[in-house]
Amino acid sequence: MKVLLVKLRKAVALVERPLLLYIRFGRSLRQADHVKRYCLERERERERAMAEVSNKQVILRDYVVKALPKESDLCVINTATIKLKLPAETDQPADAVTSSKVQLVLLKNLYLSCDPYQRLLMESVQGLSVPSMSSYTPGSTIHGYGVAKVLDSRNPDLKAGDLVWGTTNWEEYSLITTPQVLFKIHHTDIPLSYYTGILGMPGMTAYVGFYEICSPKKGEYVFISAAAGAVGQLVGQFAKLMGCYVVGSAGSNEKVDLLKNKFGFDEAFNYKEENDLNVALKRYFPEGIDIYFENVGGKTLDAVLLNMRLHGRISGCGMISQYNLDKPEGVINLMQLIYKRIRFHGFSVPDHYHLYPKFLDFMLPHIRQGKIVYVEDIVEGLENGPAALVGLFKGRNFGRQVVVVSHD
Ligand SMILES: NC(=O)c1ccc[n+]([C@@H]2O[C@H](COP(=O)([O-])OP(=O)(O)OC[C@H]3O[C@@H](n4cnc5c(N)ncnc54)[C@H](OP(=O)(O)O)[C@@H]3O)[C@@H](O)[C@H]2O)c1
Repeated sequence: MKVLLVKLRKAVALVERPLLLYIRFGRSLRQADHVKRYCLERERERERAMAEVSNKQVILRDYVVKALPKESDLCVINTATIKLKLPAETDQPADAVTSSKVQLVLLKNLYLSCDPYQRLLMESVQGLSVPSMSSYTPGSTIHGYGVAKVLDSRNPDLKAGDLVWGTTNWEEYSLITTPQVLFKIHHTDIPLSYYTGILGMPGMTAYVGFYEICSPKKGEYVFISAAAGAVGQLVGQFAKLMGCYVVGSAGSNEKVDLLKNKFGFDEAFNYKEENDLNVALKRYFPEGIDIYFENVGGKTLDAVLLNMRLHGRISGCGMISQYNLDKPEGVINLMQLIYKRIRFHGFSVPDHYHLYPKFLDFMLPHIRQGKIVYVEDIVEGLENGPAALVGLFKGRNFGRQVVVVSHD
């Protein structure tokens, strides 16, 4: 019996070791297989991201010299491609763009805004002295303000999935080399397109141009031109919140109705139906104007100067009526600035972007409580961008003109 047991133990010992080895080896084989499959999947994912996708773009054909811009001055092309992943810094030799010093950010553009200043960039302009406002290059993609999703980033403050607003290009995907022109979006309970308007550059323009430049006081008389646009509709509502008497001018009766019945202006008029703007302003401001928010220039400015009050303030925001003229119109009533001790203060909103957090603190509760409303004119598709942009100069937009590139 003893002998039998010893023999049995020997036999078990003989098969035990290979059996254990077999089990262990099998497990590690399965593990290796798993790791291999995981690596393959990651590699495929990377390949997919590195694969080039087509990138629709809006190109300026040639400089538009002192004329109304036409849709055909811009063209939409489908020939460009882009990789949806930033190149690894070791993947290719560094150049001015891919150098590790450049904090590249890859964006998927969602919304683009149509802004009057873009007309100025369609010419070879000098002296704008705003870095983000360099002239467009004929044959190249135009740029402007927009809302976008970060796909990849070498900027420590931005990561994939973040939403941003700021300067981007008119295309589906953009490689941004100057991420300082991008603001991270933290509040997404508000429509994202609002960051092209009320919560973006035009909102800041209205805020700075009215509160900072005009030093408004309760009960003052305020006039706003291009009042139904991206900026004007906000200035009017700010002035009403301040307890001012507010009148706006706009280029159609529908817009006049919007000003009075949606934005709460006290009065509004269609400047295209007025033979004499001086007479029109006297009708609405028998005691004169304390604050003029200047969006159009030209004849309107001349008529306003005649109707300003002593120590009046003019916020020099824009002069859209002059942007397409061969020769700017002269303003003949400038002596009024002296007689009435009027302060005319021109400004450029990027100089004031440090106030953006203060502006958000002011604006967000007003939007959430419905105390300030905003009207947008939304067109779908980048291919409809050129018509929307040039439409600004015929007053076709009804509120903030937005172009949807993608909804997500
Ligand atoms: N200083 C800055 O930093 C700054 C920043 C943003 C904007 N801006 C300026 O602010 C102004 C308003 O910009 P916005 O974004 O609010 O544009 P917008 O009002 O949304 O669109 C432009 C509007 O201007 C009016 N317009 C076009 N051609 C005109 C003409 N020849 N005479 C009179 N009105 C004309 C049209 O409205 P009607 O149908 O009412 O004519 C058009 O809808 C522009 O002058 C722009 O350049 C300045």
